[in-house]
Amino acid sequence: MRKEVVLITGANGEMGHGLIKYLGQKKYINIIALDVQPLDDELKPFCTRFIQGDILDQMLLGRMVVEFEIRTIFHLASILSTKAEYNPETAHKVNVEGTLNLLRLAVEQSQWQGQPVKFIYPSSIAVYGLPNLLEKQRAGKVKEDQWCQPITMYGCNKLYCEHLGRYYAHYYRQLAADPERSSVDFRAIRFPGLISADTIPTGGTSDYGPEMLHHAAQGLPYQCFVREDTRIPFMAMPDAIKSLLMLHAAPKEALTQSVYNVTSFNPAASEIYEIVKSYFPDADITFKPHQSRQRIVDSWPVDIDDTAARNDWGWAPDFDQSRAFSEYLIPAIRQRYMANA
Ligand code: SER
Repeated sequence: MRKEVVLITGANGEMGHGLIKYLGQKKYINIIALDVQPLDDELKPFCTRFIQGDILDQMLLGRMVVEFEIRTIFHLASILSTKAEYNPETAHKVNVEGTLNLLRLAVEQSQWQGQPVKFIYPSSIAVYGLPNLLEKQRAGKVKEDQWCQPITMYGCNKLYCEHLGRYYAHYYRQLAADPERSSVDFRAIRFPGLISADTIPTGGTSDYGPEMLHHAAQGLPYQCFVREDTRIPFMAMPDAIKSLLMLHAAPKEALTQSVYNVTSFNPAASEIYEIVKSYFPDADITFKPHQSRQRIVDSWPVDIDDTAARNDWGWAPDFDQSRAFSEYLIPAIRQRYMANA
């Protein structure tokens, strides 16, 4: 049987790590990994090819169209919300133009192959923008079409790219005499904050969750940049990978929308603190809110409604709050830092 070729952008990132380690074990898949940085050594055995390059390099992407028969693109590369605020125009370039380039690659690939190419896109709770804490409390669990008024460049980019994907899937070149047949099967997931035992995110605003844990596990002091009462949804990385793969595998007829919320638990920052302290009693964690980052997190919902994902493709997380820590994060993190000690 011919192996399915899967392109993963942002291979070195948090989600790239999880996805590549999982998919790389499947005998029927060849992974082409793309990243601007050299590929992490631990990922090398799982990838058929690694290309060091930029998603803004159209020549590079053009060469990939002719060289590979890509069936699925997991487009994970992106500049996260905090980092994006330091250089919004660069973030726009990478997050939006980069995605546009990949969508174009998907169209060209599907034309060569005569069949649709799947385009799996991680979006984010950053697409939501609640105006103040009172509304945030009142809104509770937010559905996909509510409160989509992001206050960050990253959130704006993600929201717009969801629309771009829908456009490429259903309306691309709709006025052409011979409109190109719908050829991109675009599917997006809005993720909450993610916590991985393997990696620490770079440049996100939900990072206080994973950072608290990773610092404590290494015996390093940590100053949490949000208030104790700050609450947003989170999910353990294995569930994030699971949801990407479930959405990828879902029959097209079952999908009633192109963008789905997924979530698992939604602790206050003080609860994360308590849990971390219960496992690492010596942890030196203090709270020193950073006004602007706090404002961003305050604009994100306390929880998101993932009913559509549950109904359409059977989504349910494996790890609730207690299991995420006791069965995944704590054992894996202890092993990781003990091995490095
Ligand atoms: N984790 C992301 C960030 O903080 C949100 O999706 O930017």
